[in-house]
Amino acid sequence: MARRLLQRTLAAGAVALAALSLQPAGAAQAAPQPVVGGVRAAQGEFPWMVRLSMGCGGALYTQQIVLTAAHCVSRTGANTSITATAGVVDLNSPSAIKVRSTYVLQAPGYDGNGKDWALIKLARPINLPTLKIADTTAYNNGTFTVAGWGATREGGAQQRYLLKADVPFVSDAACAGAYGSSLIQGEEICAGRLDTGGVDTCQGDSGGPMFRRDNAGAWIQVGITSWGEGCARAGYPGVYTEVSTFATAIRSAAAGL
Ligand code: ARG
Repeated sequence: MARRLLQRTLAAGAVALAALSLQPAGAAQAAPQPVVGGVRAAQGEFPWMVRLSMGCGGALYTQQIVLTAAHCVSRTGANTSITATAGVVDLNSPSAIKVRSTYVLQAPGYDGNGKDWALIKLARPINLPTLKIADTTAYNNGTFTVAGWGATREGGAQQRYLLKADVPFVSDAACAGAYGSSLIQGEEICAGRLDTGGVDTCQGDSGGPMFRRDNAGAWIQVGITSWGEGCARAGYPGVYTEVSTFATAIRSAAAGL
């Protein structure tokens, strides 16, 4: 399946992202809309959204720890090479907060299939709201919001302004209908418009959060943008790390950073 290719391509970084089309030759192209099918997020709407310099998204899990995708980082260890940009929808804004990484923790046992989460420790805390993570399956349903500075179509450019879109939950059974055994049902959660396509995350959105409102009306993270066959194609939903599955592991890993 395409998952390995997509994940490896992203790990190669933003330059590779910009240079490479992930569209297999001869494949049908989903109708390009602006994330695909998205609209601009308002300044401050998703204050915990972070752009990472390797060309991924992330969310502030704590003020000093970013939750992102394992395929966005290369390994666990000291790492001062990543810059996190926060506090702005416009990456070129003079008021952008930029903080370097000090350490990366890639999900233990990550091998390119499932377990697609990682934590990035920042050099200093950023004084912005954090995004709480779902620790039960209660919110693994309904309509989710996704956001990122990634491509707005397959092979398209990274974006200067943060885009957002809403995507409906897709059941494991329906998602496995598209992806077969490439989908790790206990570790991944799917979302998108299965019938029409047109709305999805895309290259460069990886690591960013998929979230919804909890019963108290607060934002809660249910997914981490991970992979998909192309972007926004009908019949091929986006695949996200199922945050609730890893909530305990994420919490204890963060406590040790
Ligand atoms: N692996 C991609 C990233 O690098 C994310 C792809 C998401 N694809 C999708 N069709 N939802 O940015």
